[in-house]
Amino acid sequence: MMDFTDRVVLITGAAGGIGQAMARHFGERGAAIAALDKSEAVHDFAATLTGDGIRTAAAAADIGDEDEVATAIATLREALGPVAVLINNAGISNVATLEKTSPESWREDVNTNLNGAYNCAHAVMADLKAAGDGAIVNISSVNGLQAYGDPAYSAAKAGLINFTKALAMEYGRFGIRANAICPGTVRTPIWNHRVERQPEILEELERWYPLRRVVDPIDIAWAAAFLASPDAAAISGAILPVDCGLSAGNIVMTRALTLEDF
Ligand SMILES: NC(=O)c1ccc[n+]([C@@H]2O[C@H](COP(=O)([O-])OP(=O)(O)OC[C@H]3O[C@@H](n4cnc5c(N)ncnc54)[C@H](O)[C@@H]3O)[C@@H](O)[C@H]2O)c1
Repeated sequence: MMDFTDRVVLITGAAGGIGQAMARHFGERGAAIAALDKSEAVHDFAATLTGDGIRTAAAAADIGDEDEVATAIATLREALGPVAVLINNAGISNVATLEKTSPESWREDVNTNLNGAYNCAHAVMADLKAAGDGAIVNISSVNGLQAYGDPAYSAAKAGLINFTKALAMEYGRFGIRANAICPGTVRTPIWNHRVERQPEILEELERWYPLRRVVDPIDIAWAAAFLASPDAAAISGAILPVDCGLSAGNIVMTRALTLEDF
């Protein structure tokens, strides 16, 4: 079993669907969890983890605000010690089309999904350098690879992929590895506003996925833990789809093209 004993793992968006699954997964493998989220719910979640025997500290901050990030990470470092692993997971998706996008909503999407990851990496880089084997896992999206709507979000997620490669290139000499995960559709609260409009949306999406299901938060946690662990010691700058096969090809078109039951 992967062992993160004595490693402080900072997870942003820790109060959300994927964030909670990752915090629990790393924590059950010995990590101390530095949980950061803009939602105050992060404190209740941290208390639950602590109750389950996982060393946890929490801070509420907006990752898009560099001063809030610096203050929050200083507090978390004081509670748990220097950060060895950063999981840039916090994200938002605001507006479905370019036509509905405003300069303000574009800025907010890019500020959270891209600038926020930079702010957090910047704030922990000295810790990661000192660790000598630090790791960053950026949670991008299949939207960073192809256009699936939500254009500002997608542009930011594409930027996050290039940022991951820049981190890998520049900080490899300090033993720091940086990798990105591109999830497909994951069943989490980020979908709530669309589930309200179309309750069966996630079930309807399943036909686009070769594995005939959407992704579970734990699937992302497993991949993130692997990439952050010594088992991935030679992996840096990699962009890993965790998408039930979505990016392998267009299965709906392939069914139509071949008249076969894929
Ligand atoms: N769920 C999906 O289908 C899916 C697919 C691809 C990628 N992702 C990515 O996975 C990550 C986690 O998403 P999720 O599905 O768990 O969503 P979620 O809404 O359940 O969780 C996101 C968390 O991020 C926090 N957050 C948002 N903006 C923040 C900010 N400015 N500062 C600090 N915290 C902030 C929210 O409070 C929330 O707790 C996101 O980056 C998302 O883009 C999700």
